[in-house]
Amino acid sequence: MLEKITKIKEEVEQILNKVENLNELEQIKAKFIGKKGEITILFKELKNFDKEQIKVFGQKLNELKDFTENKVTELREKFQQKQESNISFDFTLPGRNYIIGSKHLIIQTLDDIKSIFKKLGFSVYEGPEIESDFNNFEALNFPPDHPARDMQDTFFVSDKFLLRTHTSPVQIRVMQENEPPIRAIMPGKVFRNEAISARSYCLFHQLEGLAVDTDITFAELKGTLVHFAKEFYGSSLKYRFRPSFFPFTEPSAEMDITCYLCGGKGCRVCKGSGWLEILGCGMVDPNVFKSVNYDSEKYVGYAFGMGIERIALLKYGITDIRILFDNDFRFLNQF
Ligand code: PHE
Repeated sequence: MLEKITKIKEEVEQILNKVENLNELEQIKAKFIGKKGEITILFKELKNFDKEQIKVFGQKLNELKDFTENKVTELREKFQQKQESNISFDFTLPGRNYIIGSKHLIIQTLDDIKSIFKKLGFSVYEGPEIESDFNNFEALNFPPDHPARDMQDTFFVSDKFLLRTHTSPVQIRVMQENEPPIRAIMPGKVFRNEAISARSYCLFHQLEGLAVDTDITFAELKGTLVHFAKEFYGSSLKYRFRPSFFPFTEPSAEMDITCYLCGGKGCRVCKGSGWLEILGCGMVDPNVFKSVNYDSEKYVGYAFGMGIERIALLKYGITDIRILFDNDFRFLNQF
């Protein structure tokens, strides 16, 4: 009996070391400890021995059975784990795309505009969003009782400070800090205390332009802006300049381009005129030069200012400005 037990133990060890999968393992288990397994049969044979022998053999047999069962359980777990990990890793699946975000349409538009002017030799300046009343109004030749200073348009921070209502105060800063010749663009946020609607928002972006030298002409202003508009909207673009008024430029003009929706026939977007305004411009008023201590007899200059939201709406055919501030992913994703 003891010989048989030792032999089976050796056999169990050998076979279990070679087993490769669950199927084989179950077969081996049946061979030794199944109903008709070799170890089970030995248990049945025990009854042929006397009491003392049964005690000794029984103990050895139990040890062998335990050993076999433990080994089988251990191997079964190993194979099952392997099977599971084979299922959860499919290396042929395509990877998931990470969402890395992109620049907001307004920033993209600003970048495009900036790069056009940079190629013409303009440098970029930025000023603070909280400005003095002096830079925002007084130095720009706004009379003290000008309606734009009204509480209804301007967010005042204190008596003398406010959220800038346009980027034109950066013109003042650039001129205070530099001597001509100057060719600068000044992008940034501006704020107006207006009712929010499809056409206006209390916050938007502008890009200001300023050129100061001894021999600057209105023709140069027009040429620069036409070049910009054609680069930005395409060379077949139609445009026109209309006389206008700003306290800080004289003469002043506004530039229109043909309506993106109707192509000039007249529709609800352009209110039937066929034209859409994209910017204000003009020759720098001598009073502005005086406020920054430039010799207004010696220097001439031009300035322009455009609303970035408006320019983007026109380019991409968007009809509601609020959508630019909602930051809805479904909208942002498209650009
Ligand atoms: N600052 C003006 C506005 O906000 C635009 C402008 C800038 C007009 C420079 C002329 C020259 O409407």
